[in-house]
Amino acid sequence: MRTLVDHIGCIAGIERQGRLRLCGAEMDRMETLEDAWLLVEEGRIAAFGRRDDGVPPDADRRIDARGGMLFPSFCDSHTHLVYAGSREQEFLDKINGLSYEEIARRGGGILNSADRLHAASEEELYRTAMERVREIAVMGTGCVEIKSGYGLSTEDELKMLRVIRRIRETTPLEVRATFLGAHAVARAYRGRQEAYVDLVCREMLPAVAREGLADFVDVFCDEGFFTVEETERILNAGRELGLRAKIHANELAVSGGVQVGVRCGALSVDHLERSGAAEIEALRGSETMPTLLPGAAFFLGMSDPPAREMIRAGLGVALASDYNPGSSPSGNMRMVAALASIRLRMTPREALCAATLNGACAMGLSRDYGSITVGKVANFFLTRPMPSIEYFTYAYQTPLIDRVFLRGCPLHSFFAESR
Ligand code: NIG
Ligand code: FE
Repeated sequence: MRTLVDHIGCIAGIERQGRLRLCGAEMDRMETLEDAWLLVEEGRIAAFGRRDDGVPPDADRRIDARGGMLFPSFCDSHTHLVYAGSREQEFLDKINGLSYEEIARRGGGILNSADRLHAASEEELYRTAMERVREIAVMGTGCVEIKSGYGLSTEDELKMLRVIRRIRETTPLEVRATFLGAHAVARAYRGRQEAYVDLVCREMLPAVAREGLADFVDVFCDEGFFTVEETERILNAGRELGLRAKIHANELAVSGGVQVGVRCGALSVDHLERSGAAEIEALRGSETMPTLLPGAAFFLGMSDPPAREMIRAGLGVALASDYNPGSSPSGNMRMVAALASIRLRMTPREALCAATLNGACAMGLSRDYGSITVGKVANFFLTRPMPSIEYFTYAYQTPLIDRVFLRGCPLHSFFAESR
């Protein structure tokens, strides 16, 4: 099956050299091509070019982009989108002056979600998570990482991860699963944190690995949650079972999470609101991708991570939504990219690179996803005609996404109610 997308005003996010991530000044320079066509064959990008140089004459299906732009799908490398219920009561608590840490100390926060998840059936979790998956697909996301971490018991962590596996098997999105048993100390282990870490290492991780339910292991390494020593122990236990590390680090305090992540060869270290020169230095020369979650900092009213300093230091940076009920109840990656420009002073092109190619890299997917490159999976969306690439995140609320394609097929062929 050959599908030709013709009359494209501009193709954004082109990476011809097959680089797996872009760093520093390169992030602002992803190539574009005006007045173009793109050919899809068997779900992959077969070719693209300028209309002036000749449009391929034969195709089984023709799609008229009507002068709109073509963007590679977003690659959202950090979400918690499997959860039960919602936490708007804590939204009110925050408005009334409580901090995220205070809410957590009172047994709200992650433990609140754990109670709800315990009471929910696997079927109900799957159904509600699939609504969120459809929602993000319509907003342009094609690859997504989903974490466990609202189970906090072996049985409930496995329940969450089975839901993630079912999502992976039943959607056209590319899904990666992360085991986050060390998201918080379970209520039953209050005051016995060491015993909980033992449970994570000796029971949960082996059970997860036995069923092949996770690609990565993550720890919330931060003040009031898990220490650097505990984090290292859990990540090493994960590595022995073949799970690569990802970390929640430096969200609430200068936690040492970045350094332990780099030491353990983490694929990414995420959040980083509280970081500076020492963290940037630790990341230089490493393969670990700093991943910024401006939606969470925005929602919680926290300080912003030093994105400009990171890029100036030559680092590659990724952006992700952190979609979860407590600190970021949105998986809108276009909004995340807009926030990165508004709050972190990333240019729209840097933000686009961070939300696509570098996001794919932060979940080990950038060989096949994250840019317009011949041979990659044909995940992209078409917009209405726009005056520039920058306009897409500048006019961040205007409904500009016109049609979404995953594996070269229109989204509505997978989800009946989507465009
Ligand atoms: O990434 N920081 C830790 N975990 C999530 C929030 C989880 C929650 O509050 O439910 C985050 O922000
Ligand atoms: Fe998170």
